[in-house]
Amino acid sequence: MKASVILAHPYQQSLNHAFFHRICATLCAKSVTVFGHDLYKENFNPLLTAEELEKKKSSDKLVIQYVGELLDSNVLFFIHPNWWGQPPAILTGYINRVIRAPYAFEFPPGDKGVGIPTGKLTDKYGVVINTSNTEKTREETVFNDPLEHIWMKCILEYCGISKHYRKTFRIVANSTLEERLQWLDEVEDIVVNSINCCDGGGV
Ligand SMILES: Cc1cc2nc3c(=O)[nH]c(=O)nc-3n(C[C@H](O)[C@H](O)[C@H](O)COP(=O)(O)O)c2cc1C
Repeated sequence: MKASVILAHPYQQSLNHAFFHRICATLCAKSVTVFGHDLYKENFNPLLTAEELEKKKSSDKLVIQYVGELLDSNVLFFIHPNWWGQPPAILTGYINRVIRAPYAFEFPPGDKGVGIPTGKLTDKYGVVINTSNTEKTREETVFNDPLEHIWMKCILEYCGISKHYRKTFRIVANSTLEERLQWLDEVEDIVVNSINCCDGGGV
């Protein structure tokens, strides 16, 4: 089994980094091959240029590597904070440049992009781990939880990933050390469940 683990957070001491390291360690302990990437540390360039937009294949070595690993992975983990109801820009850049046609989805011949595409990541399980400073009811009623729609509908299901799981850890700003340690254990359980799900079990 193989897993891509993608982290978008600039601060090395962040809770998001702690989640990233725990996820990678848990996967390794379960003998899963891990393609772990800290996008900031790897200096990923998030800009999709006009030249790359026209081409089907990027000439950026990092993009080529990420695409290859994405297609090779059975399970995909995305870890990031809620920033204005969106992923940080560096991860939006990853989505634009890596999770793209013709690898992740494709329109039928003759369709210029107006119809319903065929998702091509149907064999994968998607996991999104978020952190937030907004109370759950306020996030859902006032803001409509934009990250739920972005990830589940606009990205994962669009690309054919029907099996997915998302968890938001909150409220980070007020959290105690005990709570954070408990959240790390919870993340470990999520990893184990996702492996079982890929093996044919369920979450
Ligand atoms: C640019 C920016 C935008 C943010 N926007 C939101 C937001 O829309 N909703 C929210 O709950 N928290 C927001 N936050 C707070 C972060 O979600 C919070 O700092 C983070 O989840 C904490 O995780 P960490 O300890 O790993 O940094 C924002 C923080 C920054 C820096």
